[in-house]
Amino acid sequence: MSGPAGESMMSDGTMDYLECMNRRIRYLIAQSRVPEDPPHAENTLMWLLKLDPDADETLRIAALGHDIERAVESRRLRKKDFTDFELFKAAHARNSADILRDIMDECSVPEARASEIYRLVVNHETGGDTRSDLLKDADSISFFHVNMPYYYDRCGREMTIRRGLWGYGRISPDHRDLVKGFTYDSGDLNRLLRDIISAASHRHG
Ligand SMILES: [Fe+2]
Repeated sequence: MSGPAGESMMSDGTMDYLECMNRRIRYLIAQSRVPEDPPHAENTLMWLLKLDPDADETLRIAALGHDIERAVESRRLRKKDFTDFELFKAAHARNSADILRDIMDECSVPEARASEIYRLVVNHETGGDTRSDLLKDADSISFFHVNMPYYYDRCGREMTIRRGLWGYGRISPDHRDLVKGFTYDSGDLNRLLRDIISAASHRHG
């Protein structure tokens, strides 16, 4: 996998592997055909740090790269090839982790950190432990903060409601209030978010 030119070297001549990861992930995501991918990656990182200002570099790299498969056209999975949305999301998470594993090998990320990044990204749709939940919540909140207007333009109201309900349901209850304060430029989108939250409240309480 080719990397960006001009990667910085440490004073001892070795590349800083964190710098290498951050640069390569951003370089690949900048090429995504999905227009919201670059802002979503940065925004997920921003929400991770809002939820936990002390989140370590392992979590930060996982946040930046969690959806990277969508940016790699030759390896990208398509929703239409799956009969079940949850199976698609699980395969998407695993595929992103596999692509990150290749980049981590190229950047010589130490194995303990590489395994944890891999694990976090595999779990990013479902969570399941404190660290995976943080990434899942940052990702889910970012869907409403950044992705939803793009999704609405591409897929229309009905699919956005379905996607929004699914996404709202995966935010940990303690963090759902963060999304309730979001507003958009369009009245349609503001109504749509209110509809999603009210339908979800009946479903999830
Ligand atoms: Fe995401």
